[in-house]
Order: sequence, then C-alpha cells, then structure tokens
Amino acid sequence: MAFPATRMRRLRATPVLRDLVRETRLSPADLVMPFFVHTEPGRLAIDAMPGVDRLSIDELVRECGEVQALGIPAVLLFGIPAEKDPEGSGAWDPEGVVQLATRAIKAAHPELLVIADLCLCEYTSHGHCGLLTEDGRVDNDPSLALLARTAVSQVRAGADIIAPSDMMDGRVGAIRAALDEEGFADTPIMAYSAKFASAYYGPFREAAGSTPSFGDRRSYQMDPGNGDEAVREAALDVEEGADVLMVKPALPYLDVLWRIKQQSRMPVAAYNVSGEYAMVKAAAAAGYLDERSTVLETLTSIRRAGADIVITYHAKDAAEWLRPTP
Ligand code: PBG
Ligand code: ZN
Repeated sequence: MAFPATRMRRLRATPVLRDLVRETRLSPADLVMPFFVHTEPGRLAIDAMPGVDRLSIDELVRECGEVQALGIPAVLLFGIPAEKDPEGSGAWDPEGVVQLATRAIKAAHPELLVIADLCLCEYTSHGHCGLLTEDGRVDNDPSLALLARTAVSQVRAGADIIAPSDMMDGRVGAIRAALDEEGFADTPIMAYSAKFASAYYGPFREAAGSTPSFGDRRSYQMDPGNGDEAVREAALDVEEGADVLMVKPALPYLDVLWRIKQQSRMPVAAYNVSGEYAMVKAAAAAGYLDERSTVLETLTSIRRAGADIVITYHAKDAAEWLRPTP
C-alpha cells in the first residue's frame, strides 16, 4: 500500500530506529590492513599516500600490535626488497623481506593473520608480474613455478594466507598443488580473481617501486570494460582451489563485486586500492570532503555490494572510528 499508509521515513526517525533496521554493518572484524615493508631502518613516507609509510620490520611489528588491539584480524604484506633482478628472486628468498617480516610478526602477535601478497613485480628489475620472453612479453607458464615457489617460501615463514596478485593463468592451481605437496594443504588461497588494469594503482607503484619499466600490464590484468570475463575468472579460480575471491579495485567495480558474490557464493574480498585512498585523503586535506564520514560510507557500501572482507589503507582509522564510545 502506498502513501499515506506507507511512510518510509517512519523507520528513519531516530538513531535507535535507524540502527535497528540497518542492513549492512561495518566492523573492524571485516577489515584487512595492507602494509609496505622495506629492508631499511625506520619509516619512509609515500608522497601520494598521506598517512601510509614504508615500514622497517620493527615499525611493522609495532603497528601490527596496534592493528590487533583495534580488532582488525589480518594484515596484507607487500615487500620492497633491497635489490631486484629479472627473475624476481627476492620473492622466494627464505631471508627475503616478507619472509623476515612474517616471522617477526608471528613471533610477536601469533593470533594476527598474516596474508602474504604474492607477485613478482616488486622483485623484478623490469617491474612486470612474471618472467619475460626474449622479445619482452610476459611468459605465463614459466612464471607459475616461480610463483608456486614463492608461495611455499612465504608459508614456511609463517604466512597464514597466500594472496596471488599476478593474474597469470593457472596460478591458483599451481600454487595449490605446490602447497599441498609441501604439507601445507590447510593454508588458504585468497585469489585476486578479478584484478583490473587500473589507473588507481598509481600511488602503490610509487610506494613499491613497481612501475613497469616498459609497456603496461594490460596483457595480464583485466580490461575495465569486462564484467562477464570477471565472472569467468572467478569461476576458474574456484575450480583451481581458491578459498576466497577478490575484486580489485573496489569502487569502480562494485557491479563486478556484486556479480561475483551472487554467482559464486564464495567468501569475497574487495581491495579499496591506493588511488581510492589517495583521492579521499586529497579531498579531505583540501577541505572538500569530511574524511571520517566519507570513509565509513565508502567501506559500508563496499560491504553492501557483496564484500565479506574489505582490504583498505583506511582500516586503522576506520577501526578507531568504529570503536564503541564508553
Ligand atoms: C602487484 C600489486 C599491485 C597492487 C597490489 N598488488 C599493483 C599493480 O598491479 O600494479 C595494487 C594495490 C594498490 O593500488 O593499493 N601485483
Ligand atoms: Zn604484480
């Protein structure tokens, strides 16, 4: 029955009523905080990401304590190695920066989940996410062995979840087989299933020094126009053994997030990436937007669109803002 019997505003009248009928809630328990860890001492600011620094292992361990105290269950680690080479051998070095950081975090905060981002681009001198052929193309199948080797090395160091972000075909299956063979059948894979070739990764590439030295990533990351293809990518990752699917970036791809959640019924993560963070920070610094309400609305909307897990550089701030006032 329509107006005047139906009045939608009845349930909006007070904060208590609004709270009672809210469909989507945001909690620190849904969030993952990404960190950049380097081999140097101390912190190094990232120009395009105010409030996010590259951290030494000591600083990282300290920040992980704060993350855990805020009720955030997991961190996602990106390593910035001291040296790079064409194969990206720093990625699977047992003494590599992510491996050392993971051991240090797990020793200090054993309950905190460490998710290891798995890619070669932070470790390769050319900045691409896989091995190159003689004529400079990214070579899919030989890259799989290196990714699998990296996954095993990360789990040996104590990583709780492996998150491959390279977008090579078949990598989830290759990583699953390698982990199973090494006795890590219980370690979950969170696959960056629908990872788009996005301008929103700009600040991250500054932070990780991972801008490709030639060309771009469009031969392996997805075309922004494609939604059906994203659903197929997700279905393939499920077949290959993925435990959690990811959509990345988040805000420009909420329709993709919705479709993947509806079709897969899998746990789904969304990555609110560096450029999305940078936009909010820049607008807030200019006085154009209120940071707190913008961030909480954004993260709630990502959840409403289907994300069970939201990976965001705002995680610590959001968890502070969500803390119940005594
Ligand atoms: C590496 C990787 C990237 C991001 C996560 N893993 C960058 C890229 O693909 O160029 C982006 C994260 C962000 O922008 O916050 N494969
Ligand atoms: Zn990469």
